[in-house]
Amino acid sequence: MKPTIGPCHFVIFGATGDLSVKKLLPALYYLHREGRLAATLAFIAVSRRSWSQEQWREFMNEQLPEQLGDDFRADVFDVFAQRFHYVRVQHDQAGDYLALKDALTKPSECNCANVIFYLAVSPQDFTIVVSQLDAAGLSGRRSGNRIVLEKPFGHDLGTALQLNQHLHRHFEEEQIFRIDHYLGKETVQNLLVFRFANSLVEPIWNRNYIDHVQITVAEHSGIGRRAGYFDGTGTLRDMLQNHMMQLLSAVAMEPPARLDADALRDEKVKVLRSIRPIPTRSVNQFALRAQYRAGNGCVGYQDEEGVAKNSITETFVAAKFYVDNWRWSGVPFYLRTGKRLPHNRTLVSLRLKYPPRQLFRETPMEHIEANWIVLSIQPEESMHIELQAKEPGLDMRTRPLQLVATFHQENERHLGAYEALLLDVIEGDRSLFIRFDEVEWSWRVVDPIIRQWSRDTDFIQTYAAGSWGPEEATRLFDSDDQRWRDSV
Ligand code: BG6
Repeated sequence: MKPTIGPCHFVIFGATGDLSVKKLLPALYYLHREGRLAATLAFIAVSRRSWSQEQWREFMNEQLPEQLGDDFRADVFDVFAQRFHYVRVQHDQAGDYLALKDALTKPSECNCANVIFYLAVSPQDFTIVVSQLDAAGLSGRRSGNRIVLEKPFGHDLGTALQLNQHLHRHFEEEQIFRIDHYLGKETVQNLLVFRFANSLVEPIWNRNYIDHVQITVAEHSGIGRRAGYFDGTGTLRDMLQNHMMQLLSAVAMEPPARLDADALRDEKVKVLRSIRPIPTRSVNQFALRAQYRAGNGCVGYQDEEGVAKNSITETFVAAKFYVDNWRWSGVPFYLRTGKRLPHNRTLVSLRLKYPPRQLFRETPMEHIEANWIVLSIQPEESMHIELQAKEPGLDMRTRPLQLVATFHQENERHLGAYEALLLDVIEGDRSLFIRFDEVEWSWRVVDPIIRQWSRDTDFIQTYAAGSWGPEEATRLFDSDDQRWRDSV
């Protein structure tokens, strides 16, 4: 595997945090193991703890085996760990950035001097870190320096606009990588291929054939160690405004003129702009939120470490949207996502309209089920087309059968979402990163919900941990024969 030549330094702010430990360090470990990173690329781990180099290595040595399981190899780790240098930075301390600058100017074999700054920190700290980097002369406008920001980008429309302006005061747009790791998932990219490379699929992908679309992102886990971030954020901002809006855009978009970054983003923005605005007074008809209570051996959200006892932060959201364009007019898009649901499962499911059923009138097939197209994004990456076939025997009865295409051949190792996106950052390819107008229009879609919910502050509905969320989520459906699809 030929390594990617790119910047000399990769700086991780928030190196000891959850995101770094669970996603970034494992992804970098795999890329290192597979020889995809140039030997000249060095890592700088930044956090607020005053640690020695040794303590940082011990920390990685404790955390990585847990994340990597059988893929952890001590000999690979030793070389990987040597690529890191630890620097303590308190985000608001100008002097600490000079220590970082010092670490960046150490002589190295790399001669381009470009740096990637990855902000795996709490979103409230984006502004201060960005200003301080610039004040220390590190933003490197017109250089190849890059800055990567995790979602959520802003806390609502207003703060997202402010953050963007702030960023542009210190960095050029070409330097900014707004990450949404769902775009790095292969099945999400494959959605475009499935739709636009198959003449069997595209002709039916519209309001003439599709009854409704469902997108489910179910997570089995709770909030882990992330109360500090999550309790002030909630599922609407953490998942629906970004990951789910990206999935919705990929399902609904028109074919782009070319497969380049801007053509793709243009089409996604058109979808977001076509979503019918939810009137604030009708928010409750279109969206609902809930929080998990104790169940199936798990504590309730309010008893999680670091969560306020009277918190009304939502851990589950279900919502209905209409994309008011020519292709999708009248087709509801039902979205739901939650923590502490029964499984980890991300599904995009399209139910087709019923065929005319007069042929089967007064036979057991009168209530024949509709066809489905189901794309499983995780844990399996697969595509399913569900059809009805006659049950063998004398009676005229049907049963569903599925045409299944699993996405990966056995033993085929594929890049995880973060691996793919980190390589893109190193290579400077922004196609799978978010342009600001996508962020802006996603906030415009969810802002009425945020506004309404911020007024109702004394009560939140609950669901038992380990269940599929509140029963009430079914009330979003436009017709009695629609129901949530929980599995492929
Ligand atoms: C992150 C959210 O962006 O995505 C987390 O902040 C969530 O709350 C995670 O758990 C889910 O990602 P994945 O790839 O595990 O589906």
